[in-house]
Amino acid sequence: MCNRLCKPQKVVLYGKKIILRNPKMGDVKTLVDFINSLVEEDALILVNKTITFQEEKKWVKENLELCRKGEQHLLVAMYKKEVVGTMGLHRGKWRQSHVGTIGVSVKKSYRGIGLGTLLMKTAIGLAKKDPKIKILTLDVYEPNKIARKLYEKLGFKSVAKLSKRDLYKGKYISHIVMEYPLNKIK
Ligand SMILES: CC(C)(COP(=O)(O)OP(=O)(O)OC[C@H]1O[C@@H](n2cnc3c(N)ncnc32)[C@H](O)[C@@H]1OP(=O)(O)O)[C@@H](O)C(=O)NCCC(=O)NCCS
Repeated sequence: MCNRLCKPQKVVLYGKKIILRNPKMGDVKTLVDFINSLVEEDALILVNKTITFQEEKKWVKENLELCRKGEQHLLVAMYKKEVVGTMGLHRGKWRQSHVGTIGVSVKKSYRGIGLGTLLMKTAIGLAKKDPKIKILTLDVYEPNKIARKLYEKLGFKSVAKLSKRDLYKGKYISHIVMEYPLNKIK
């Protein structure tokens, strides 16, 4: 895992110049807007309560420290000064310190232009290079057809189902656990 700040990467998607880079403390305001936009659309993610600037500031500070220690990798996709996507690759602790878990999200108005695919491919690339990560996994809500199709397209396979774990729009929905074949454990 990248234990120092990685070089920013520039990409052009549908004519939009997007920069992938590590987050900075100065991004807290735009990160709050990004997360709260997902909460407001009631996206199929765990968080369903808007967050405050102070909560996000604390989170960014703590998580940048984990990045510096090489325990996780975080990227933001920036369009101009706005966060339009995020990717986290977290390494587990203790008996699970060989397990990398990916989380990815893209702002609604920037979906369908390849950003989710790019963030996922970047995360897979990082996991492949990290000698400490031997298993690559993620967790997706069963009704999240777009995300599941994206993960399958990139080589993830469903390995388990956790039934009725979360409440979404008044119904209990299941999680699908997916794994990417890193083939690092024989
Ligand atoms: C899942 C998510 C990250 C995909 O991001 P994205 O930037 O739209 O992804 P891409 O543009 O690379 O598109 C990936 C695929 O999804 C398809 N897709 C994207 N938006 C779509 C839509 N609204 N309807 C149908 N298909 C869609 C694309 O056509 C593409 O398919 P293809 O590869 O067969 O062409 C994004 O929908 C998202 O952030 N959703 C809300 C949060 C979330 O669900 N996060 C994942 C939690 S597990």
